[in-house]
Amino acid sequence: MLLDQIQCWEATDVNDPMTQAAGRLYEQTLAPDERIPWVWIEKSLERVGRAAGWRKHLLLAAPASRQTDPAALAGYAYGAFIPGYGGYLCYVGVADWARRMGVGTRLFEAFFRAMDADAQTADDSLPFVVWESHRPSPDASPADREVWNARVRLFDRVGGLWVEGIDFLSPNFADDDGDPVPLQLFVKPMDRSAAEFNDARVRAMIDGLHERVYRNDPGDELYDGTFPPGCRPRLVPARLAAGMKLVFSV
Ligand SMILES: CC(C)(COP(=O)(O)OP(=O)(O)OC[C@H]1O[C@@H](n2cnc3c(N)ncnc32)[C@H](O)[C@@H]1OP(=O)(O)O)[C@@H](O)C(=O)NCCC(=O)NCCS
Repeated sequence: MLLDQIQCWEATDVNDPMTQAAGRLYEQTLAPDERIPWVWIEKSLERVGRAAGWRKHLLLAAPASRQTDPAALAGYAYGAFIPGYGGYLCYVGVADWARRMGVGTRLFEAFFRAMDADAQTADDSLPFVVWESHRPSPDASPADREVWNARVRLFDRVGGLWVEGIDFLSPNFADDDGDPVPLQLFVKPMDRSAAEFNDARVRAMIDGLHERVYRNDPGDELYDGTFPPGCRPRLVPARLAAGMKLVFSV
């Protein structure tokens, strides 16, 4: 399939068979402790168009000629523009049959455009888009390591930078009593250049994720655990998150 045959568009109807196919793909592509219940995402679609607050988007991707065929759903991305903060991409997933064809890249690009449009509508700035990802443990299976490599290459390709130096502790959605889930953060600088993300701005971006998204404040276990004494989070090329070498051309 040619890359330019893939189209991305916004889902607005929970009863649309394409949206329902996205729910199935969501549960197939993400581990239970990495995802919120799909029904929460459905509920957010019902509220699309509200003037204030988060502007949430579920984007779908499929070949142009099969945009109404649930079997042809190639991928989805879900996230929100958070006024006064930035863009937050919660989830992205691509069907097995559609991987390595540029669908993930297309979905990221469509999401960045949606964030840009939201910022303009809200007359706000868009300093960055941030997203999280779960890095497998060193003894993970080859399959899990391959998915991590795929993620990091995708993040690199779309201009994402890795926040090296911390594990962002998030709640375990699969088990209320389970251990926090340590996540790696990735950031795409938008209105600001990468060089403008000094230590204070990187820290403010992470603070904002805890406070605006997870409602964690200083003193909370997840917040404090994210910032152990002496940590110095900073932006580095995404590839370093998978131990890949940097290639410089002269
Ligand atoms: C990660 C995922 C979204 C990638 O989607 P995709 O459509 O295959 O990605 P693209 O085709 O746009 O490829 C982007 C980059 O990733 C690389 N890539 C994709 N799959 C890869 C794989 N299995 N191994 C190594 N690299 C891979 C591509 O080669 C490309 O890199 P390049 O430009 O350096 O060549 C997809 O594998 C997936 O859905 N995985 C399961 C769910 C998931 O992990 N979601 C992300 C949660 S944060």
